[in-house]
Amino acid sequence: MSAKKVSTPKSADDQKKDAALEALKLVTPGMTLGLGTGSTANHFIRALGAKVKEGLEVRGVPTSRATADLAKELGIPLTTLNDHPYLDMCVDGADEFDDKLRLIKGGGGALLIEKIVATSAKQVVIITDESKRVKTLGKFPLPVEVVNMGIKATAWKLERTFRMLGMSPKMTLRMKDGQPFRTDLGNSIIDAACEEIKEPERLEFVLNNIPGVVNNGLFIGIASRVIMATAKGTEDISGT
Ligand code: A5P
Repeated sequence: MSAKKVSTPKSADDQKKDAALEALKLVTPGMTLGLGTGSTANHFIRALGAKVKEGLEVRGVPTSRATADLAKELGIPLTTLNDHPYLDMCVDGADEFDDKLRLIKGGGGALLIEKIVATSAKQVVIITDESKRVKTLGKFPLPVEVVNMGIKATAWKLERTFRMLGMSPKMTLRMKDGQPFRTDLGNSIIDAACEEIKEPERLEFVLNNIPGVVNNGLFIGIASRVIMATAKGTEDISGT
């Protein structure tokens, strides 16, 4: 009797790790790297930390306090965008991406710094598991970072803008431990559950034009490639 080999499907977390290890292969000595935020980016940072321990010389610009803390703990030298305004590469996760490599980010609340850092890099590598690929963006609620002053007025202007574009998302003020969540820059986040975002380019632009909105989680024309791990292997997607 021969025993049948049963292969266990890879968990989302294993896939995140695979994508992170694939991105690590793109790192070369001397690079200044944008370091993303979230569980997938953390896999990359841990793997990078191991390489740094072996002698790889790189430096990183963190996109959040959490990332800075992890990188420091691992001995990855850190710098700032003021000292290094041009980055070689940025590696970060995403909440959703489509075939045009348009992204929703900000599930972890770091969207603004993530956008500033990513747009300062020559190459932006997004690492994900297969659950993040979508046909149409919007299932994941779109995070909108807003200043705290006048937040109720900003909220109705947001509503009006979504309506103008044919959407009426449920909007929720993000909370943490019973208190309004604050980003690392001290702002609030309103999550807009759109279900389907019809014109992401237009939406990104008009939302950012509302006084009180600092930025939103649509990342358009920013990702250079997405490394998506699946149960079967890793795909390097460069967009259509
Ligand atoms: C952080 O603000 C986000 O943009 C993250 O990059 C995104 O939420 C992906 O997170 P995970 O890697 O934890 O899924």
